[in-house]
Amino acid sequence: AAGGETEITDYAFPFEGPFGTYDQNQLQRGLKVYTEVCAACHGLKFVPIRTLGDEGGPAFSEDQVKAYADLIEVYKLDEDTGEYDYFTATPTDHFPENISVGAPDLSLMAKARAGFHGPANLGINQLVKGMGGPEYIASLLMGYTGEEKEQAGTILYENTAFPGGWISMAPPLGDGWVEFDDGSPTDMESASQDVAAFLMWTAEPKLAARKQMGLTAVIMLAVLSVLLYLTNKRIWAPVK
Ligand code: HEM
Repeated sequence: AAGGETEITDYAFPFEGPFGTYDQNQLQRGLKVYTEVCAACHGLKFVPIRTLGDEGGPAFSEDQVKAYADLIEVYKLDEDTGEYDYFTATPTDHFPENISVGAPDLSLMAKARAGFHGPANLGINQLVKGMGGPEYIASLLMGYTGEEKEQAGTILYENTAFPGGWISMAPPLGDGWVEFDDGSPTDMESASQDVAAFLMWTAEPKLAARKQMGLTAVIMLAVLSVLLYLTNKRIWAPVK
């Protein structure tokens, strides 16, 4: 893989296609993977915790959102002392930022990366298969070959999905590392897709509303076309 084409699996996500929507259970599983594994190194600084309650997203109840916030510590201004300190998060806080090991923020990662480019970097695959951001993330988690090397004091891991072929993130997931309450499969490939779906939601939380609006617009335009056709017939009827 090094230097050559990356290998991205075209996973089938429920939010693909004109009528696709997020699977709320999958988003909840992905959140669990994120929280238990990824959050150790990565942040989600653009995502307000309260949005976990959004319809079209993980759709947590108010109590669940509150319970989740209670698990999180955020570094913020203490109104009383005027100094920054660590506090238990409230739903209005954002997920914490995390730059401790130089891992990039994942809020927008699913939109910042493309999985599909070819053939010959023409981008035609993007029209057919989509941009492939979540496919890239899932493939990245699955793409480790097990090879390692040390370069300038950093350990690099060979990864067939990562451009350049060597990434400094150690393989973060394994089979059965995260368990799900809904009894869903916990193998690495399933968990990878779940967390990739969750990160697609953080990057594009309004996807369902956008598609709904698009559908409404298409229906309206279809009705308008019929009316215009009939109007046209009537206007020109005397001339014929
Ligand atoms: C990079 C996802 C867990 C450390 C990345 C990237 C993604 C990602 C998408 C960006 C790759 C790119 O630039 O194209 C995840 C997910 C995780 C996870 C979904 C949980 C399942 C971790 C953990 C650590 C970590 C636990 C630390 C032990 C890093 C570092 C980078 C990185 C250091 C930068 C790698 C480089 O540019 O060479 N991760 N990560 N990640 N991650 Fe993670």
